[in-house]
Amino acid sequence: MKITSDFLIIGSGIAGLSFALKVADSKKVALITKRELAETSTRYAQGGIATVFSSEDSFDSHAEDTMVAGAFLSHRDIVDIVVQGGPQAIENLINFGTQFTRNDTGNYDLTREGGHSFRRILHAADITGREIERALAEAAQQHPNITIYEHHCAIDLITEAKVRQRRLQRNRCLGAYVLNNATKEVITFGAKVTVLATGGAGKVYLYTSNPDIASGDGIAMAYRAGAAVANMEFMQFHPTTLYHPHAKSFLISEAVRGEGAILKRADGHAFMAEYHELKDLAPRDIVARAIDNEMKVNGDDCVFLDITHKGADYVKDRFPNIYETLLKYGVDMAKEPVPVVPAAHYLCGGVQVDSYGQTEISNLFAIGEVSCTGLHGANRLASNSLLEGAVFGERAAARALENIDSQPMHFPAVEPWDYGSAIDSDEEVVVTHNWDEIRLCMWNYVGIVRSNKRLSRALRRINMIQEEIHEYYWNFNVTSDLLELRNIATVAELIVRCALERKESRGLHYTIDYPQTDDIHWKKDTVIRKTF
Ligand code: FAD
Ligand code: SIN
Repeated sequence: MKITSDFLIIGSGIAGLSFALKVADSKKVALITKRELAETSTRYAQGGIATVFSSEDSFDSHAEDTMVAGAFLSHRDIVDIVVQGGPQAIENLINFGTQFTRNDTGNYDLTREGGHSFRRILHAADITGREIERALAEAAQQHPNITIYEHHCAIDLITEAKVRQRRLQRNRCLGAYVLNNATKEVITFGAKVTVLATGGAGKVYLYTSNPDIASGDGIAMAYRAGAAVANMEFMQFHPTTLYHPHAKSFLISEAVRGEGAILKRADGHAFMAEYHELKDLAPRDIVARAIDNEMKVNGDDCVFLDITHKGADYVKDRFPNIYETLLKYGVDMAKEPVPVVPAAHYLCGGVQVDSYGQTEISNLFAIGEVSCTGLHGANRLASNSLLEGAVFGERAAARALENIDSQPMHFPAVEPWDYGSAIDSDEEVVVTHNWDEIRLCMWNYVGIVRSNKRLSRALRRINMIQEEIHEYYWNFNVTSDLLELRNIATVAELIVRCALERKESRGLHYTIDYPQTDDIHWKKDTVIRKTF
């Protein structure tokens, strides 16, 4: 089966939907998503979306905070584009129906998070992402030019080089092979322009704040197709997820600290003043490392986040979702400190793109968390991710529209998916086992504090598992679990290889072998391409 459209958009979070809604008035869009439409990381965002909104604030201040948080690896031109595009992006979200929280005077309420010099974060209580996703998803569902394919999982990109089976000076993307999870059929989606908006890769680690969709599929697909991938060593660990055996790393928003919560040891001692002048509102990499250190030095399983001094009425009103969720796990955050630990949260690296979201492969864009635009550098500033997704969604769409009419709809003959002699797998346990092993290995050896020895050990393990996956992949029919396992293994390998390459500590990459920041040799991105 073959489906063709002007645009193939893979992913239905803030980035994919923003792009789709911008191009759909004049072009046909096929939008595929591997679970239900709204099941995205976007939907789980809590704290909010950063932008310059108050009169005391300025674009320069937001840009400077982004540069400082990113340990000066962020690209200043991209930072300016995103920061200055913020107010328009917010207006677009509001026009699509997003309702941000207002204060008593009727103005939008602005909250604060780590690393920000001003209150500049718009939010919808503590479920900002759910509100944004609702508004955008409803608009997309109502649009006659957008066809939505839920439970469709992209397997691999189709490129001209792949079809012609030879290397090309400038490779071109022609679409993607996509697994329909219900029928198990592999469909060929052809498109003039393909957009990766597949989100992050938190699932590569054992403990993560991310939902199950975050298996780095877009990064793995782009890498296999020959696109450059950059800065994969910068996996951000969010400092505060709930420590509870059944909670699956439920996030406690940084806005809780923004509104006054304090991190404490089990004995009640507030420790962040010992690590940074901004104390509990220091950039995220510093807070996560401080917690990791406190837990190791004191032999504790967690630290505690205390907002009890703000009073029950305030806490319940400002953080209704977090309050209710914690209560289900037996923790009343209005009355007692919350046990917290760091967990993998956001991948700052990804598919390398230019200032319009264009990858190295023609007609292939990457937007949102899957991409590496240069905005986040070595550590993302809180609430800059939704902003990047909205700004680049629009910006990439405008650029793609400029060129699409000159693109042919006649592709070189694309072979349908080769099912080969694959038979149904009855060895699901192998998938689960490899999956667990990779995630544990990444958590233990490629976490908040790294060393050459641990990284090399991780790479050896991952390479061995990859060999097994390779054999398994070609011997059995593809399932979405197997696809995700293959992608997780690829992304894990890329993270370790980038981490081994960077011989310094900067932002989220801290290694005991090179504890200093080395601006002379390493103030640059780490870029990897597949060799064919
Ligand atoms: P996503 O929203 O993750 O969407 C990815 C889409 O791609 C999904 O539809 C998925 O199904 C689809 N997909 C993936 N692989 C495939 C495939 N192979 N085939 C088909 N479809 C595929 N950022 C902020 O700025 N502010 C916050 O307050 C904030 N809070 C957060 C809280 C949590 C708990 C989490 C997890 C993240 C938070 N972030 C926050 C980060 C932010 O939410 C994400 O970085 C952002 O939403 C990513 O948007 P996206 O559109 O790039 O991808
Ligand atoms: C949070 O609410 O703490 C998440 C904010 C972010 O990841 O930007």
